[in-house]
Amino acid sequence: MEATLRIPQKADYETIASWVVDERACARWAGPLVPFPFTPESLPELLEVDICSSYCLSDNNNECVGFGQFWATDHGVVHIGRIIISPEFRGMGAGRLLCERLIDKALRSTGAHKVTLRVYRDNKVARSLYASLGFFVVEAKSTGDLLFMCARTNKTPKVDA
Ligand SMILES: CC(C)(COP(=O)(O)OP(=O)(O)OC[C@H]1O[C@@H](n2cnc3c(N)ncnc32)[C@H](O)[C@@H]1OP(=O)(O)O)[C@@H](O)C(=O)NCCC(=O)NCCS
Repeated sequence: MEATLRIPQKADYETIASWVVDERACARWAGPLVPFPFTPESLPELLEVDICSSYCLSDNNNECVGFGQFWATDHGVVHIGRIIISPEFRGMGAGRLLCERLIDKALRSTGAHKVTLRVYRDNKVARSLYASLGFFVVEAKSTGDLLFMCARTNKTPKVDA
């Protein structure tokens, strides 16, 4: 699959909203701050976390097939979240591609050397994806429902201008 990251447009938020079909799916994707139901127009504001960067994964027809965000937390640390792939494209490698591209972008944009995320303990697919990307569980920062995961990069970050 040919895919690139790009800045989401208004129509992309309508597409993304159509993937989130109920309260449980909404919570698993976006956490407690995004209520369900929501309107697509309200999504950019609802998804705003500190100073965050949002990206779509777009396919070779420029269609949005995935979405994710990152924001700097502590010094040298960037957090990724709100990872989602269109239900039509799940299980075909798009989630891995999105995460790899998003992490690369996050490290380059922030100069961070550590990436963190949170995932529901019962979200086996996402956990398996993150573990395969080198994320490990930090139990001390996890809760009964949510795992805190962390990955370190050995590469010297190339910071984007
Ligand atoms: C989690 C999610 C992004 C994964 O995207 P995806 O495109 O389905 O994932 P991929 O096809 O790239 O698969 C990546 C890895 O995920 C795991 N995985 C994918 N489908 C799986 C399944 N049905 N069962 C178990 N593991 C699975 C595997 O480890 C896989 O690696 P492999 O192909 O080398 O075995 C997607 O399922 C999704 O959008 N879920 C709803 C939103 C969500 O839960 N987001 C996570 C918030 S923390």
